[in-house]
Amino acid sequence: MSKTLINTFAQKLIAWHGASGRSGLPWQGNRDPYAVWVSEIMLQQTQVATVLERYPRFMKRFPTVKKLAAADVDEVLAEWAGLGYYSRARNLHACAKQVMTEFGGKFPSDPILLEQLKGIGRSTAGAIAAFAFHERAPILDANVKRILARLFAIEGLIQDKAVNDRLWNLAIDLLPSKPADMPVYTQALMDFGATWCTARKPVCLSSEKKCPFSKDCQANLSDQVLLLPQKTIKTKSPEFDCNMLLMRWGNSVLLQKRPSKAIWGGLWSLPEGPWTPRVFGAKNEDIVAQALFAATLPDEKFAALSKACKSIKQTEEIKHVFTHRRLWMQIWQATSSKELTFLSPNLKWVPLNQLGRYGLPQPIKILLQRLSLVRGDDLKN
Ligand code: ADE
Repeated sequence: MSKTLINTFAQKLIAWHGASGRSGLPWQGNRDPYAVWVSEIMLQQTQVATVLERYPRFMKRFPTVKKLAAADVDEVLAEWAGLGYYSRARNLHACAKQVMTEFGGKFPSDPILLEQLKGIGRSTAGAIAAFAFHERAPILDANVKRILARLFAIEGLIQDKAVNDRLWNLAIDLLPSKPADMPVYTQALMDFGATWCTARKPVCLSSEKKCPFSKDCQANLSDQVLLLPQKTIKTKSPEFDCNMLLMRWGNSVLLQKRPSKAIWGGLWSLPEGPWTPRVFGAKNEDIVAQALFAATLPDEKFAALSKACKSIKQTEEIKHVFTHRRLWMQIWQATSSKELTFLSPNLKWVPLNQLGRYGLPQPIKILLQRLSLVRGDDLKN
């Protein structure tokens, strides 16, 4: 292992950040651990451009960990709608409660303690400790793994425990010696991975910019940059079909609250039937109202709804791509001739102009707008 690189890496990277890193973002330079934590969770699977728009709104709605902990989880989910990966929002709420009850409303500075909180993994704990408390704690997200695997030409799959342990050890060895450098160093690592040492177009392979590590990087020196880190072979994600019921009664639409562990957990969506593997070339079978209601409504009311249903037709097919699967949502529109009440608290008629109060999955919002049932403004809470 290159001793000189270990000793010079942090300062070179900080110098790089001064010239080419991202600065002036609203969550930077802020030592409030609550603000840092919210931004890190939001940035985990969401692009910086989207976070720039949504982060100030979230902070305005929930300005302190106390306010977030006191909110209803549905309010948090509604505020999170559109950002995806909703377990982040549920964990955010649970974590705020934990901070209130277990830490007296103050985030701990020790990354080991931070990691015990809901939704905070080792790398996020390191980022919060570094940004908010200037702790010499390492981060190791996918971007940083790529940088280190290339710099030190680390072979093997990064999911392997031995490889992962080695990367963590390197991340520790490379930390700057001065705690005061931790925020800029941590941000620089993130930015360098996201903008220069990228997966497919790292700057070392173009002639426009000069990577400060070109003479140190083992992958660059041995012409293996695009081969590292080693990738697992990806199989195409499986496809599913699912019938969904868009049932209207007057100006209301029937919504069903999704179970918290499922995809879009805790959000309100259209009642849906089971997901069935999509068979290429097969046509969605004609479906009778009774069967559709029986499949989508786990409630004693489906027979009554079926009777009250004036018309039913399949009007839309929407494809939604998740990380590990693709879903074809078959939308069946129906109108009920009367209001039926439901025993289940997970089913309710919601007036179209009140949909903004509910967290709805993004494709459902888009569908309702496309069908001109709501305007974008109606969905803003
Ligand atoms: N991704 C995760 N944390 C980030 C940060 N602080 N800045 C930019 N992208 C990030």
